[in-house]
Amino acid sequence: MENLVIPGNQVIKGKIEVSGAKNAAVAILPASIIAGPKVYIDNIPEIDDVSTLLNILESMGVDIRRRGRNSLEIDSSKMREKSTLSYGMIKKLRASSYFMGSLLARFGYAEVPAPGGCELGPRPIDQHLKGFAALGADVNMENGIVKLKAKKLKGAKIYLDVVSVGATVNIMLAAATAEGRTVIENVAKEPEVVDVANFLNAMGASVRGAGTDIIRIDGVKDFYPASHTIIPDRIEAGTLLMAAAATGGELLLQEVIPTHLEAPIAKLKEMGFDITTTLDTVEVKGCQDLQPVDIKTFPYPGYPTDLQALGMVLLTRAPGTSVITENVFESRFKHVDELKRMGANIKMEGKAAIVEGGKPLNGAPVRVADLRAGAALVVAGLIANGETVLSGIEHIYRGYEKLENKLSKLGIVIYHENKNKRKNFSQKY
Ligand code: UD1
Repeated sequence: MENLVIPGNQVIKGKIEVSGAKNAAVAILPASIIAGPKVYIDNIPEIDDVSTLLNILESMGVDIRRRGRNSLEIDSSKMREKSTLSYGMIKKLRASSYFMGSLLARFGYAEVPAPGGCELGPRPIDQHLKGFAALGADVNMENGIVKLKAKKLKGAKIYLDVVSVGATVNIMLAAATAEGRTVIENVAKEPEVVDVANFLNAMGASVRGAGTDIIRIDGVKDFYPASHTIIPDRIEAGTLLMAAAATGGELLLQEVIPTHLEAPIAKLKEMGFDITTTLDTVEVKGCQDLQPVDIKTFPYPGYPTDLQALGMVLLTRAPGTSVITENVFESRFKHVDELKRMGANIKMEGKAAIVEGGKPLNGAPVRVADLRAGAALVVAGLIANGETVLSGIEHIYRGYEKLENKLSKLGIVIYHENKNKRKNFSQKY
């Protein structure tokens, strides 16, 4: 059993580069097989979700070569048309559902076990399936496997009933090779959706409007070798900014796109933090007089649900009442009980968490239930009095590239405990 052990009352200080965006990488890897020509992808984060996707790609006969630390060359020209995707691998991450769109685009055929991912409550894929059906695919579910078949995919007009990142990307992938024009309305505007569209266009696709409410895709037949650099991870950036802010420290984030972080930066400023941005850096400095604020999560450009737990930890420090409303995922509050075990005063009312801040947290054994909650509990450990021991840390490795190493570079002492042996990450740097 592996744990992270975090001594409390620590302060983050320094500068660090942000890695490539997880949610873009986990879409671009499945997207890389929609046609066949070689693609080169740079700035791929070294995270477990990426490793799982690479294993799935290799299991389908895709040839993957490393070209430097964060670069890959992917050749899917000889991949098998019909592959049995192992449920064991597919269930590890939500983004495995993107193989539905990419295999359908390539072969007009896909059998993909219904996906897994974080435990955030029910995560239906009805909008993905509605999109595939509108494009002309037969959609069936048998024994937990989604079976898709189309003689010919044809462009269609599709209105999404909910703003969904996954459905927007999946339908975009399938439509890239469909005959004629597809128009998807009420789409997700996340920067990662735009990154996938840019990647598809680099390969020869014709995707217009990504980043707005309506995406138009004119299906094409000819695709070309392409190279693409993944955008910086705005959620990792937000995590590190909030971590530094919570510890009362100072942090300069490099290789970041500050405009992707407008909502979290606005909230940090409202709390009283001093934030300076340039074209590709964000700097946060501690604040003496932390103010309580209300946070409401919304699809981009709203405050991201992926930074909801982080915001909550930070607000335990602000004397007074803050209300955090989760509008995207109905059960994304599994960190609340763990924070309460550390002494936080949080009351749940429906989809709102009412945080009475200002009282210090105390170190405790806590269990990580999902990826972003894991990062939030790490930060809670940093600001608590005494030692915090996190179990369930495999969730963290799904999506944060070397989080402990990065924190160590920023002056944090953190131990990785494996069968009671402790390794201090700060000794590596
Ligand atoms: C993606 C992100 C995740 C982020 C989330 C919301 C990836 C790999 N993951 O997840 O980090 O937290 O966006 O920003 O990019 N829904 C339906 N039917 C559907 C699809 C979604 O009802 O067919 C609902 C979901 O239950 C949820 C909401 O729509 O309530 C948004 O989900 P969605 O944007 O699809 O999230 P994911 O793509 O799974």
